[in-house]
Amino acid sequence: MSHAEDNAGTRRDFLYYATAGAGVVTAGAAVWPLVNQMNPSADVQALSSIFVDISGVEEGSQLTVNFLGKPVFIRRRTPEEIEEARAVSPDDLSIDRQSRNPNRPGSDASDANRSLDEAGEWLVMTGVCTHLGCVPLGNGAGDFNGWFCPCHGSHYDTSGRIRRGPAPENLHIPVVQFVDDTTIQLG
Ligand code: FES
Repeated sequence: MSHAEDNAGTRRDFLYYATAGAGVVTAGAAVWPLVNQMNPSADVQALSSIFVDISGVEEGSQLTVNFLGKPVFIRRRTPEEIEEARAVSPDDLSIDRQSRNPNRPGSDASDANRSLDEAGEWLVMTGVCTHLGCVPLGNGAGDFNGWFCPCHGSHYDTSGRIRRGPAPENLHIPVVQFVDDTTIQLG
């Protein structure tokens, strides 16, 4: 029995799988929950959180999943990206010094307050530019080697913090946590 089948009977959620080695997600959900259409609360419950298998995400690649109608970037950063992100203190930021991380409410935009794990390998962010909502390009894009929004030229660093351009805030971080070593829960 596959992992997906294994979970199908017990969980009402969406499972996404990275293609091993490629760091991309298969289109759509691997398992659709059996939602009673006459019961809206079950539908809401099913959509309120998803579990993502991140075991196939290679270092230096990004998995994008759809969560509540928005893309969520799940990046496994390289040591260089982590080092670059951690070398920047909130005082160096001229546009937004807040973490924008509901998992650490009210904290500053130090990289340690934005990354998911202590070592900073995983960075999970909503992939929506805080200017007017375009989806920024990733994989080292822009002048700060992170993400770049071509719509009006916003540059985000390797921590997803806005460094140059019209966007007013750092890329937002969703409610997220590790469930086990290879699975994260969004929402
Ligand atoms: S929407 Fe991203 S820079 Fe305007």
